[in-house]
Amino acid sequence: MQPLRCAVLGWGAVSRHMLAALDRTTWAEVVAVVDVREDALAEASDRYQGVVTGTDLAVALGDDVDAVLVNTPSHLHFDQVAAVLDAGKHALVAKPITNDFEHAARLVDQASKAGVTLSVGQQMRYMRHYQAVGRVVAAGDVGTVEAVTLLNAKPRPNVGNLAGMQQPALFEMACHHFDSLAAVLGDPRPVSIAADGFTPSWSSYDGPSMVNALIRFEGGLHALYQGGFASQGPSYELRLEGTAGALRCRGVHMSVDEMTTELARPAQAFAPYDVNRGLDPVDPWAVHLEHWRDYVRGGTEPPFSGRRNLAVMALLSAGIESVQSGGAPVDVCDNPRFAAAFGHAVGEHPHVDAVGASL
Ligand SMILES: NC(=O)c1ccc[n+]([C@@H]2O[C@H](COP(=O)([O-])OP(=O)(O)OC[C@H]3O[C@@H](n4cnc5c(N)ncnc54)[C@H](O)[C@@H]3O)[C@@H](O)[C@H]2O)c1
Repeated sequence: MQPLRCAVLGWGAVSRHMLAALDRTTWAEVVAVVDVREDALAEASDRYQGVVTGTDLAVALGDDVDAVLVNTPSHLHFDQVAAVLDAGKHALVAKPITNDFEHAARLVDQASKAGVTLSVGQQMRYMRHYQAVGRVVAAGDVGTVEAVTLLNAKPRPNVGNLAGMQQPALFEMACHHFDSLAAVLGDPRPVSIAADGFTPSWSSYDGPSMVNALIRFEGGLHALYQGGFASQGPSYELRLEGTAGALRCRGVHMSVDEMTTELARPAQAFAPYDVNRGLDPVDPWAVHLEHWRDYVRGGTEPPFSGRRNLAVMALLSAGIESVQSGGAPVDVCDNPRFAAAFGHAVGEHPHVDAVGASL
């Protein structure tokens, strides 16, 4: 089979990670790179022999391109992805798909009409510990999960490309967490979210760089969430409370695969528990890109397709509505605003695929 010919739009941090994994495959090649920085284009030419480079998006839309990786700052995604789909190319866009639910839904619709795939770079759900915890949940080892706590905040004093962003904590960080929770819990439908966005005195972000939220899911599942870029020290905790016990993973960040993992049976103390049994550490991009390749070639629609990712976008957007209203709960799955997100079958278990893929 011919390699998938990829163009890269935006040669920054996320491209670095994604391309490191793509370069290890035999089924893809980078044929074009677009960036507004000349130094980025020089670097790209050094790395890929014969690559076409330029500062204009048109360079990425030539006849010899099958798919475009849109890795620019998110306020540019809507127009750029629309142009990619309009040119009949597959699009893989860095999270968040856009900074606006309605725009995301329009892109999903456009891709469907154009007969091409639209995917989102939500690789974090394929981190080993999310796959491992998803496996524990699916196997019923903690019984029916009724409460979840996810805390992940880090100091990121360098605002970088998030300067001026209205909702950095929700759009830039919580999108990973909400997607990973869906992967771990088997896609429960979010009923409502009440969120408090805030900016600590030491934070230099314009919008809320921290968020605390309460999320209710269907089936009596309650989540307590904190995320953001402005904690004074890094912290990570994922805790599930089920009818058969509690599982806890603690570390410094969701993407650092060194965790203390413990299990407590009802009313007993936590004890060490090897949640990763049999799962090797994995580059989540490698797993994500394998699923993406299959999808582009007409295979299974992955949980990170633009269409399926609308549920994450709905939860984020409802969270933002809640922050803006001062913390009042906002409906999600039954909210007419988000109807485009909840048309798909309920109860799918995407993490089961994910675990299978990495074993
Ligand atoms: N999945 C992940 O783990 C992950 C990690 C980091 C960032 N991201 C996401 O990736 C996206 C990009 O973030 P980043 O950290 O890579 O940013 P970055 O600033 O490091 O890189 C963005 C690149 O886009 C280029 N660019 C800006 N405007 C452009 C234009 N009009 N045309 C072409 N190129 C342009 C910039 O010059 C820069 O090289 C964001 O949506 C972010 O949320 C995802």
